[in-house]
Amino acid sequence: MSQPAPATPEEFYASPLSQAPWYYSVELFPGVVARGSFPDDLPMLPRKLTRHAEVAGQSCLDIGSMEGLLPTLLARRGAARVVATDAVPHCASRMAAVKQSYGVDFEFAAVGLLYDLHAKLRPQSFDFINFSGVLYHVYSPLMALASVRSLLRPGGLMVVSTNIFHDDGYRAEFNAGGRLQPEANTFWYLSVPLFDYMLRMLRLAPIDCLHFEHEGLGLTPPVPGLRSGYMSVLCQAREDLLPTGGDWYLQALKEHSWEWATLTDWAAADQHPRSAIQAAAPYDGVVRRDDLDAIDLWASVQNQPSHGPAVARDAHQLHLVDTD
Ligand SMILES: C[S@@+](CC[C@H](N)C(=O)[O-])C[C@H]1O[C@@H](n2cnc3c(N)ncnc32)[C@H](O)[C@@H]1O
Repeated sequence: MSQPAPATPEEFYASPLSQAPWYYSVELFPGVVARGSFPDDLPMLPRKLTRHAEVAGQSCLDIGSMEGLLPTLLARRGAARVVATDAVPHCASRMAAVKQSYGVDFEFAAVGLLYDLHAKLRPQSFDFINFSGVLYHVYSPLMALASVRSLLRPGGLMVVSTNIFHDDGYRAEFNAGGRLQPEANTFWYLSVPLFDYMLRMLRLAPIDCLHFEHEGLGLTPPVPGLRSGYMSVLCQAREDLLPTGGDWYLQALKEHSWEWATLTDWAAADQHPRSAIQAAAPYDGVVRRDDLDAIDLWASVQNQPSHGPAVARDAHQLHLVDTD
């Protein structure tokens, strides 16, 4: 049950919200900050990449919103419609407080598990989707991504962000015995080439990215020898598969894979209205492919420096002056 949003700092201090464990740090009243779970300077890469999507006037979906930091910023940037979601409404009271303090309104849907999100949200479609910090929480990242892909309009933009590790193969590391991190909802870290391939399989062209290495930010590598990090990718929905030269497998998938044909509702995806959303020029250091109008994530992650400590407006904290 959501509690009424506090109207004054005194009401906030007197309410259970002031004792609640906040995910993001949020300034609710001038100088009054609900303290979040992250170091103040930990970069929030999806926030920075979302700035490269011209969301004003566009229809936006955020998956796994917690208190609604990103939906608030999307609303402040003039998005025509913002739908926040989470598996369960566990942040309802905190989200109500954020909406009131920031003078924004957006929708919220409790959607449960994500494998059939497209069926739950049908017939809606979106110009922009943020799908960040969630893929490592699901048993089957590809299946969840396949469902979400159904909701993106042709030409639409999606930010996908997850934990990665530096390896030139197509691998995933499992959190057996909590070896990657003790958090009990974390399952998979993806190698960067696998992440790239999964996106292109689903006709999502990577066009921009940022990353950081856990170690570079003082986050000790959880597994000795595993160069792990976090990567955020801005992708665009394209009409066809995005192969590299000679990759017959991607074409075969389209013709023969029941999973590929069924777990994304391609008929819906292709019939949504075409999106006019634009993307800004990519961040420095991305490496373009020769064979596609896209970037190469593995080349980019090696060429682009690991993102260092962030200033407040690029971090997991929301301040009343913030507009993006
Ligand atoms: C690490 S937080 C990411 C929050 C935000 N998207 C961001 O990037 O800052 C993970 C989000 O996914 C949701 N979540 C965790 N496990 C999930 C699951 N199995 N299915 C659906 N959502 C899940 C959490 O409730 C939370 O909103």
